[in-house]
Amino acid sequence: MCRAVIPAPLEYPPYTAQRLCPGLWHIQDATADHPPGTQPDGSFHSPSSVYVVETPSQVMVVDLGPPYPGQALRALVDRIAGGRAIQVAITHNHFDHIGALRQFEDCLHHLPQRDPIQTAAPSRLLTGGESIALPPYHFQVLAVPGHTRGSLAFYEPEQGWLFTGDAFGSSYVWLLFLPDAVEVYRDTLRRTLALLGEQEDLLLLPGHRYQQQLLPVPGIDPRSPRNPRLGLPYLRDMLTLSEQILAGTAASRSFQACGREDLAAYTYGRAEIDALLPGRPPVEL
Ligand SMILES: [Fe+2]
Repeated sequence: MCRAVIPAPLEYPPYTAQRLCPGLWHIQDATADHPPGTQPDGSFHSPSSVYVVETPSQVMVVDLGPPYPGQALRALVDRIAGGRAIQVAITHNHFDHIGALRQFEDCLHHLPQRDPIQTAAPSRLLTGGESIALPPYHFQVLAVPGHTRGSLAFYEPEQGWLFTGDAFGSSYVWLLFLPDAVEVYRDTLRRTLALLGEQEDLLLLPGHRYQQQLLPVPGIDPRSPRNPRLGLPYLRDMLTLSEQILAGTAASRSFQACGREDLAAYTYGRAEIDALLPGRPPVEL
């Protein structure tokens, strides 16, 4: 459970690293001069979240952000690791979560087998049900399809940490890439909530933390929910909303993304699901 006071962030352009609590860092490709959200030129900057879990002998990096030239992410992780061994765990195969893969090819990678990723790194392919030992932490690997077919989450029950990538969104989830994404996602939520039980200390650590709006983000739709903390109530609202969508009773508005206008944003409580309209083909990334 993270309740420690947060020290000042460490800027390492194009990244900023912040220690969320002892043993856990958050890194995003944003700085004070290039913050998340709408920019002066009208473009929208959507940084990705990278997490680093520290132990006395090693560190594990969860996701690798979007691609940038150079070796800046590796240099930053090396600075945090301070000579400790580095492992990498990837939640899903989207460009904005694997961009720095080439910088870590000398490290062991835990990869989603059903989201195939090309890499020269030594790899362990995961489908869910495995564990990752990083003493004193022990991560359970969860299969959480919906956003992609092979999405994984990494759960540390003692700490309540659940690293989710984009599987449950970061206040809103994109279910745009599979024709049956809402059904698959509903089943994922049912399985995941059953596994989590009454884990009231649960802390989701998602793939685009800025979308939680811990700080105001210019350009985010004001109708989207704001979730400074993502935990069980958020997942429960997501389940209710997915069931409402499938029953045809969910509140919605039109939504545009990836050049497509035939999409819908559905909202309930703390949750938003951005999805295909019934019968429309999946979005190609
Ligand atoms: Fe994604």
